[in-house]
Amino acid sequence: MKIISIANQKGGCGKTTTAINLASTLSFNGQKTLLIDLDPQAHATLGLNVEDQNSLYNCISKLTPHKLKIKDIIKPVGKSFDIVPSNVLVGTLEQELADEIGRELKLVEIIDEIKGLYDYILIDCPPSLGFLTVNSIRASDELIIPVETSRFSMQGVDHLMDITNLIRERLGHPVKPKVLITMFDSRLRHSFTMLNKMKEKFSGMLFDTIVHVNVKLKEAAVMGEAVIRYDKYCRGSKDYLSLAREILTADRQPIVPEVKVTSMPTVAAVLEALQEPKEVQASAPASYQPSERMQELIQKETQELLKATTFSLAAPEAKSVYVTGSFNDWSLDENCRMAGQDGLWTLKVSLKPGTYKYQFIVDGKWQEDPANANMERNSFGDINSLIEVKA
Ligand SMILES: Nc1ncnc2c1ncn2[C@@H]1O[C@H](COP(=O)(O)OP(=O)(O)O)[C@@H](O)[C@H]1O
Ligand SMILES: [Mg+2]
Repeated sequence: MKIISIANQKGGCGKTTTAINLASTLSFNGQKTLLIDLDPQAHATLGLNVEDQNSLYNCISKLTPHKLKIKDIIKPVGKSFDIVPSNVLVGTLEQELADEIGRELKLVEIIDEIKGLYDYILIDCPPSLGFLTVNSIRASDELIIPVETSRFSMQGVDHLMDITNLIRERLGHPVKPKVLITMFDSRLRHSFTMLNKMKEKFSGMLFDTIVHVNVKLKEAAVMGEAVIRYDKYCRGSKDYLSLAREILTADRQPIVPEVKVTSMPTVAAVLEALQEPKEVQASAPASYQPSERMQELIQKETQELLKATTFSLAAPEAKSVYVTGSFNDWSLDENCRMAGQDGLWTLKVSLKPGTYKYQFIVDGKWQEDPANANMERNSFGDINSLIEVKA
């Protein structure tokens, strides 16, 4: 079991968005995941449409008349995805426990009760460095610090690092901090300047994954859903799936590809698309045959369909390589997995003639095709390779 705090005392830098969407993409990869909402503002609880009267307050407070165990307040929000909800009362714990010895170990003791039930426990921290955040870091193996590409949230990292060092020195508990760049806006030159500064300042501590600005993340939260349930092909889903893969790869956990079968253009699909409009079909006799013109079209379409195209990448060190792109709506599943032999990874797909954008995903990391000079910078700031399939 791995416990990960998501903290930064700066508000609005993507802590809750990361907590919700990393929890859901880890569970999507088959990992039993618990998200503990430790923020009295309860944004993660609300962002997943969970309504509950109880919170960790009922487990920790000595004043509550409704004392509960953590197991009593866990709520399921999806397959392999549970939450411990929060409410405003959690914010009173700091004062209540101000003089108590061992108060920084409250969360450790509580999580002990559910040891072994989960593969990952994520903790969404409040935007402060008080009792709750210290408890969370003390209970964690790792710390994710979401940082926007703005100066203020970079300062937050220094304070958190000080706390992490204190927890290591005074409480003898080492925690591995990692910085996650969030809300990266590739339309702004400033973002790239800040990205370079962060790469310098946090070298070795940065996730390879960068979370881009994506309105779907905001919309999903408003709808009370994780983004992969709201729109699984959007950039936000892609980024958080990539983050989950990066963490799973580092932890040597299996990565479970998406189960949905990609809708590659098939002859049957084109035939269906070429049929007469639905209302005509409904009134047509059962023995309806396509018109001559339609048959011609069908023949033309089927002839120029399905040109065998091979993607290949030399990556001798890689453990898994996928290819995805505009040819399959950037979806990612077993159909995209490339076969590796002697360090050369290949995948043959059947494509209609046209120009397609694509990227490889090597051990969870997205990259362009290094052997293809034909490429373009996409609107997210990274590079798409381009392939032309000729008729
Ligand atoms: N990558 C993103 N792209 C667009 N909006 C985002 C992104 N990450 C977070 N947001 C939005 O920014 C606001 C603050 O994010 P949130 O995760 O709640 O931050 P925090 O928990 O650090 O206060 C929310 O409205 C959220 O929907
Ligand atoms: Mg939050």
